[in-house]
Amino acid sequence: MIEILEKLSETFSKRQSPPLVFLHSFGCRQNVSDGESTVGLLVKAGCGVTDTPDNADIIIYNTCAVRENAEKHVYGVLGELTHIKERNPDVIIGVCGCMVKQKHVAEFIKKTYRHVDFLFGNNAETLPDILLEILDKRTFMMNINEPDIIPEREFIQRKSKIFADVPIMYGCNNFCTYCIVPYVRGRERSRSPHDIIEEIKALSKDNIKEIMLLGQNANSYSSDNVDFAELLLKINDIDGDFRVRFMSPHPKDMGSDVLQAIAQSEKICKHIHLPLQSGSNRILEAMNRRYTKEKFLETADKARSLMPGLSISTDIIVGFPNETAEDFEDTLDVVKTIGFTNIFTFIYSKRSGTKAAEIIDLTPKDEKTARMTRLLSLQNEISTKIMADFVGKTVKVLIEEQKDGILFGKSEHSIGVKTPGDPGEVGTFKDVKITGAKRSELYGEIVNS
Ligand code: SAH
Ligand code: SF4
Ligand code: F3S
Repeated sequence: MIEILEKLSETFSKRQSPPLVFLHSFGCRQNVSDGESTVGLLVKAGCGVTDTPDNADIIIYNTCAVRENAEKHVYGVLGELTHIKERNPDVIIGVCGCMVKQKHVAEFIKKTYRHVDFLFGNNAETLPDILLEILDKRTFMMNINEPDIIPEREFIQRKSKIFADVPIMYGCNNFCTYCIVPYVRGRERSRSPHDIIEEIKALSKDNIKEIMLLGQNANSYSSDNVDFAELLLKINDIDGDFRVRFMSPHPKDMGSDVLQAIAQSEKICKHIHLPLQSGSNRILEAMNRRYTKEKFLETADKARSLMPGLSISTDIIVGFPNETAEDFEDTLDVVKTIGFTNIFTFIYSKRSGTKAAEIIDLTPKDEKTARMTRLLSLQNEISTKIMADFVGKTVKVLIEEQKDGILFGKSEHSIGVKTPGDPGEVGTFKDVKITGAKRSELYGEIVNS
């Protein structure tokens, strides 16, 4: 790796000024984290970073394939880049990430967007080679058949001084029938506990205050005889004043040992994002989720009995092929019973190559939209009530920013909190007594200054 970076750096150094890179990541936190590695490598090779494509020498879009809308958006952005290339024919334009890992998409981009110079998948380590070839020959380069590796994390260009993402595992073996991720991200592989812990120790020394552990199926983590529960306990033992979250766990792997580890680790936030997807056993089976409505409710119950005050958020897909009104009622029922702090809702999007894409879907589109509206209005009521219940309580807030005398941060439940205060408080934890609540935000006064 170092050798190829040195070569690239030599090539760059022949230019009048160091090349500027612009990278934008769409999609999930894992994709954003991959983007930080890609920029990190280029910075190591001598690039500068810019936050606009207008003055960039290298433009990279890191894409997401999870729903059709995500892909459509990327096509729009790529179309607009023609102007930049016309103005500056020397600019190098690349597209990477999950979308490009689908062969038909890569071929389509290559054919349709002639101003795109290179394509690669999710492995930043292939980029220096690609760039050297392009700089030398100015030919189109494509490398999307990368093996399932555990990438080195030597050069990461992190944007935040307060938050850091740490991947613990890559890929997914679950093949939920609607989901493209296992096809584009490959099979599960976990980083060694040693590497994860060393990375977190270094982040703690750098005064990072919140660490997000990332994995498509975080709680199926397994490496060197360490499972997810043990990993959490080991991370909790690391010195420093920081808190830890993780996403996303799979409900089927959310055993008592994991819940117990969260409960007994003071650094792990008492907030779990546990994707439900559907409350209907029939649909859960068709989705290949491998849990039932009853099992999901039992897991949530167990978690709350171990951790009173635990907040739970979720993802829900509305309108999986042939979802009936009755199926949907089951989803509403779980939403009511659990009282999620927050839900992320998606209308089912057909992904070519997945099993669900083969189903002939008879549920009308209007019906799906109407269900979505009902779900959101139910959740509005629930969120409003949950938020109102915080009034009078004191919550620990990590302050992220200050504007016009008002500090903004999040509680361990991942709820936004506003409070008056000085810019010097940014990057610190504050106890805030809640005096007011809106549907998605709390207000209060600092009590431990
Ligand atoms: N590995 C994570 C995240 C997967 S993608 C998990 O298992 O939860 C994030 C969310 O996108 C999923 O939880 C799901 O709700 C949604 N999603 C995935 N594929 C989808 C599709 N084809 N249509 C609509 N939503 C989808
Ligand atoms: Fe997709 Fe299911 Fe894997 Fe999550 S667990 S990434 S939804 S296949
Ligand atoms: Fe999208 Fe890939 Fe993440 S498909 S959700 S960027 S794993």
